[in-house]
Amino acid sequence: MPTKLSSWVAFLNIDAETVAALGTLSDFLEPRIDAVLDTFFDRLLQQENAARLFEDPALIVHVKAVQRRHWMEHVFTGNFDETYLNVTRAMGRHHFRLGVDPLFFSSSYGVVLSELTMLITRHFIDQPELLPKILVALNRVVFIDLSVASSVYYDAYIDDVERLAREFNFSLARAGEYREYEGGLHLLRVGHMCRAIALAAGRDRQWADMLRMASPLHDLGKIGVPDSVLMKPGPLDERERALMQRHPQIGAEIIPDHPAPLIRMARRIALTHHERWDGAGYPKGLAGEDIPLEGRITAICDVYDALLSRRPYKRPWSREAAAAYIRENSGAMFDPALVEIFVANLAELERIQDSYAELPADAQTGVREGRRRASLWEELIEEPVGFTWMMRPTEISSTVPDPA
Ligand SMILES: [Fe+2]
Ligand SMILES: [Fe+2]
Repeated sequence: MPTKLSSWVAFLNIDAETVAALGTLSDFLEPRIDAVLDTFFDRLLQQENAARLFEDPALIVHVKAVQRRHWMEHVFTGNFDETYLNVTRAMGRHHFRLGVDPLFFSSSYGVVLSELTMLITRHFIDQPELLPKILVALNRVVFIDLSVASSVYYDAYIDDVERLAREFNFSLARAGEYREYEGGLHLLRVGHMCRAIALAAGRDRQWADMLRMASPLHDLGKIGVPDSVLMKPGPLDERERALMQRHPQIGAEIIPDHPAPLIRMARRIALTHHERWDGAGYPKGLAGEDIPLEGRITAICDVYDALLSRRPYKRPWSREAAAAYIRENSGAMFDPALVEIFVANLAELERIQDSYAELPADAQTGVREGRRRASLWEELIEEPVGFTWMMRPTEISSTVPDPA
């Protein structure tokens, strides 16, 4: 039994005595449950929105059968196992997708509880020892089931909002990528490399996954840099460099000011990925650990991947030369401890380079490349369940205040 559920079961005291009372209850209900279900659905269908959901009579028959099994094999027998939880989850998601109001289904628990209380009281009225035990047991299991059902509904709702947040996150990153047309799979590689370094630096999976999703937004602010500067094949003059160096601040202004940890991390990265360990970076000239870890990691992966890529102003560097550049700038541009981790994990970073390598940009591969890129982005949006932390404001360790 999952921990969260088992603590509910313990809290509501589903002990041996309750299970015994539930045994009597389910024996009593077995021949009567279909009538209870009929009454229950008749009441439900008096509600206009429920009637619309159950226009197809075959659907009612099916739902009644599912509900019967769920009640008799799990709820009214106190059997809150893995199957119970999976079925409840599926029902919660289904309710959410159908747009069933949670107030509506919690009030149907009220209907069931009063129906059953009446039925049980009438039958066991002459057994004053047994009657309260059965009613207490009934209240406990109905309460657990209602709590779990509300909680899975809420999870389905949060999952939906989080998926939307992820999609917007990557839409923004892609918008930045379209602007810098030669960026290719740079953002995906940076995301995966950042994750690898975060894990090697001892951060947990959750933080590393969040970094993988937030770091592709580092250069979003380039949307606000004029073409003549962004695409210039030669070196930038002073005025052009000043325009280019506004991109961290522009990025931080575009990314919403929202308390969700992922969004806050993305803003910090946009703002700090050009800060340098020695304090000579921009826009704020932060130094050392005043630069948030996520900014320091992104700086290394961004530069390393940029060196390996073809850009309007340069040819791709060799892997050896790019890694040597990172090492040479340890303690100047980059956090020395992170450079050590970078060097120790080069094999893994090179594997990421290979998996997300650009395909040759000729006419024949154009469509294939487009499709491949679309599916790689999709892979980032489709996260496993359990990402509910993303939207919930939690304490994120950072030494730098959020961008204003
Ligand atoms: Fe940048
Ligand atoms: Fe970049």
